[in-house]
Amino acid sequence: MLDIQKIRADFPILSQTVNGKPLVYFDNGATSQKPQIVIDAEVKYYQEINANIHRGVHTLSQLATDAYEISRGKVKEHINAKHAHEVLFTSGTTHGINLVTNGFASILKPGDEVIVSSLEHHSNIVPWQMLCEKTGATLKVIPMNENGELILEEFDKLLSEKTKVVTVNHISNALGIINPIKYIIDKAHAVGSAVLIDGAQAVPHLKPNVQELDCDFYAFSGHKMCGPTGTGILYGKEEWLNKLPPYQGGGEMIKEVTFEKTTYADLPHKFEAGTPNIAGGIVLGTAIDYLNNIGFENIQEYEHELLEYATKRLLEIEGLRIYGTGKNKASVVSFNIDGIHPYDIGSIIDKLGIAVRTGHHCAQPIMNFFCIPGTIRASFSFYNTKEEIDQMVEAVKKAQTMLS
Ligand code: ALA
Repeated sequence: MLDIQKIRADFPILSQTVNGKPLVYFDNGATSQKPQIVIDAEVKYYQEINANIHRGVHTLSQLATDAYEISRGKVKEHINAKHAHEVLFTSGTTHGINLVTNGFASILKPGDEVIVSSLEHHSNIVPWQMLCEKTGATLKVIPMNENGELILEEFDKLLSEKTKVVTVNHISNALGIINPIKYIIDKAHAVGSAVLIDGAQAVPHLKPNVQELDCDFYAFSGHKMCGPTGTGILYGKEEWLNKLPPYQGGGEMIKEVTFEKTTYADLPHKFEAGTPNIAGGIVLGTAIDYLNNIGFENIQEYEHELLEYATKRLLEIEGLRIYGTGKNKASVVSFNIDGIHPYDIGSIIDKLGIAVRTGHHCAQPIMNFFCIPGTIRASFSFYNTKEEIDQMVEAVKKAQTMLS
């Protein structure tokens, strides 16, 4: 059992008022709030050890380098990567995906196929479309059903020896559906395809085990898991990271530079050109420690309770429809009310202190599938409560009355 009030006390932002009302923060899918321990770690870095990493012989540089590499090691343990050098620091999921698509530009040929799913965030669609335009490869899409679940029989039919990459999110940002990624990875591997998993929405809720999943790439962001913005991780299997060319050229990613030829540094540095977000990378390790102390099993159990409670309470509202009714779901409820634009509900409940995301959630194909302009998305974290859900339900009812 989690002591939610004690946990809430770790997050200073949660005790503030917004528009004169106590803040109810249900936009965790967009970004999570940060515990004091994470905020303190960021300040401590700048107060005590700020220096550039992997460069100086001086003490501060070595302290900063050690802290950065310790954090890489924590991520390695957390996701169960085989090697620390398979863990690349990025600025976020989008950066990680673009690093991979850029690399595949030198591998794919006309006639090759890339499979994405209809549940993807734009950041896991557009880079693959750009790659296909560049290489002449063809983009194929796994369709979904009315519950927001991928249709696996259709996926099976798309697979062939032409398939070179399959990419799918672990959890849909717009609907909260948890995808059967192990099935997808195994099937894709059976035809010799690489697999990238977009784990952005999964890592706040669960601990991915990349060796067990056997995915080739797993990209995620730090800011959705209590870490700082501008941080992220791309896990890639050693063999793939060795095969892909560097993403950016610059300092730190080279072995030797002459005007005739440059040779590249070993992993992970080959993919880490320039001065990174050093503080962010270090503090991401603090955020991971914080989450592991709470425990992902506890987080999942409690968030599931919140999901069930919110679903039940929201469905009491006449004319309310939930999108994403599949069985396997994370703590996300995406909904609309008959005849009312989601933006209008979002704006009114914001005045009542409730923060939700409204719109297409950077997943326009999903909205097109349901023939809607967008949804109201409430995404819950382990620091939210049932009382907050009650407040949201009352606020939505009030907005419905005002707008009808
Ligand atoms: N991808 C983030 C979301 O779903 C920003 O809100």
